[in-house]
Amino acid sequence: MAYFAFDRTTPAQDSEFIGVVVGVDNRRVTVEVPTECLAHVSVGQLAVIPVDGLDHWLVGLVDRLVCGAAGAFALAGENGADAPSVVPEGRMHPGNVASVSLIGTVKDRTTADGRTTHFFSRSLSVSPDMHAPGFAMRGPALTTFMNLLVEASATVNSLVLGQYTLDPTATAYLDGDKFFQRHAALLGSTGSGKSWTVATILERAAQLPSASVVVFDLHGEYSKLSYARQLRVPGPDELQTADPNLLFLPHWLMTAEELAATFVDGSEATAHDQILVLQREIEQAKRAFLQQHNKTEVLKAFTVDSPVPFPLDTVATHLDVLNTKMVQDYRGAKQGEFYGMFGRLLVRMRTRRSDRRYGFMFQPPDQLQTYEAFAMLARQLLDFKASRSRVRVIDFSEVPADVLPIMLGIVARLIYYLQFWMPKELRHPVALLCEEAHLYLPSQCTNANEERALACFQKIAKEGRKYGVSLVVVSQRPSDVDTTILSQCNNVLAMRLANTQDQTVIRRMMPDCLGALLEMLPILDTGEVLAVGDAVLLPSRVRVRTPSEKPISATIDFWTEWNRTDRSPDWQLAAENMRCQRRLSANS
Ligand SMILES: Nc1ncnc2c1ncn2[C@@H]1O[C@H](COP(=O)(O)OP(=O)(O)OP(=O)(O)O)[C@@H](O)[C@H]1O
Ligand SMILES: [Mg+2]
Repeated sequence: MAYFAFDRTTPAQDSEFIGVVVGVDNRRVTVEVPTECLAHVSVGQLAVIPVDGLDHWLVGLVDRLVCGAAGAFALAGENGADAPSVVPEGRMHPGNVASVSLIGTVKDRTTADGRTTHFFSRSLSVSPDMHAPGFAMRGPALTTFMNLLVEASATVNSLVLGQYTLDPTATAYLDGDKFFQRHAALLGSTGSGKSWTVATILERAAQLPSASVVVFDLHGEYSKLSYARQLRVPGPDELQTADPNLLFLPHWLMTAEELAATFVDGSEATAHDQILVLQREIEQAKRAFLQQHNKTEVLKAFTVDSPVPFPLDTVATHLDVLNTKMVQDYRGAKQGEFYGMFGRLLVRMRTRRSDRRYGFMFQPPDQLQTYEAFAMLARQLLDFKASRSRVRVIDFSEVPADVLPIMLGIVARLIYYLQFWMPKELRHPVALLCEEAHLYLPSQCTNANEERALACFQKIAKEGRKYGVSLVVVSQRPSDVDTTILSQCNNVLAMRLANTQDQTVIRRMMPDCLGALLEMLPILDTGEVLAVGDAVLLPSRVRVRTPSEKPISATIDFWTEWNRTDRSPDWQLAAENMRCQRRLSANS
């Protein structure tokens, strides 16, 4: 390795010298650049500053370059309280300055066979000396450094993401352990390449023999991935179909509170009493079910919220009896305590249960009313051992928008609690990939159902790590996504983002010293990410590899389509599909 930055025997070359350090401020260094060296330095480039007396080289990213006195003072002003430190003492008219954000250190290491090698670490244990020289890292130096990065990150845990934009020959890896351990976010405007990036990550994960990823697919984008198991919430015309890939989510998976929110109108004066009686009836129906199946163990411990099947018919019948019950006293017959209280509740219950759009919940097949159904559902959601089951895509495109958050919340909660109750030695980590997260993890909930669903995901964000449940939040509107969840994401893959509100959210998620990197967000190319977090060695711009199987998210070429003469859409079919709540194609 014959390069000045990492080998003191080779002198620095003039064309790489960018100036001397004139200010040091926590993770930021100001370098005064002589006018003749201005051509050596550019924004976005890596710079290296040797530390005297130690075999250490500080590596940083040039994030600003300002020419002349006025510019330098402007830069000083922006640095706030520490401003004076960037202006060299005793010099009222500093020249050109470059601001460098330090990102890590290259150090010497002696290997077992006595050779000296170098390695890169994100720690910054030393600060540069005043007047130390700074050099631009380019050409062979950049290659050497990138090789160090690749060597350090290409471990058994590595997940190939793509190539560094700085050096397209160097492969950028994510540490697969760290990426999933403490949640991740993939954020970028529509069409910036999020779904393709998801497909690239899924493809890599599917190659691991025991990977376990559940994808919440809201638009059926991943329905054609050949390596994934395709589960789908059944639409109205599939209710009687016996297909192991249909994911029914029967009513008894809901908590009593969720069921009450579905059937009781909170604005009625008697809402509170209705909820109490409904919960009592549910508890009794579950108890009867357990007694019928001789589940004495469960009977001792179950609660009204336990996932125990119960017939909704029985509850409805009992409520109907209470609703019409007359009692006798010494004056004769009079209306019972609950007379007329459940009229609207019963109508609502009947309507929901006969609405075929909600069939996946209220009209499940008989086998989902059995005691074994819960374990069957658990296997459907979490079994990664069957062929093509390491990635399980759940297509929610048939679920009506008003129950979508609650359904996603139920699935997330089931997965979390199944992991929670799994003995530690048998627990296997699972990642939940939440596409279009702004739709069900909103920053502002508009109703109780959304709040309850959000709470399920917040619990995973806060506590999932301990039980091997990870979230990967994907969204085109980060400012519409719940901040509690985003703040728990330790890794951010940011793609092109033009909206300033959304950029602010990302800025808040990243360390201050990387602020300048974020300036790139609006100018990133399609398929380029800014990868930041503990899963990447160097916060950097990466061109993501294209997945070999692409999601169905192709951008429609309007102009080209409008230029065709062979198109004949079938509006009759679209109208019928809308009526039947299905998406039959012309050939089926
Ligand atoms: N890594 C990539 N390399 C080249 N082209 C890409 C890459 N990623 C995405 N594209 C192009 O961009 C288009 C849109 O990508 P994608 O569907 O992933 O966007 P998105 O961010 O998921 O959008 P939305 O938020 O609307 O779902 C793709 O159809 C593809 O043509
Ligand atoms: Mg997408």
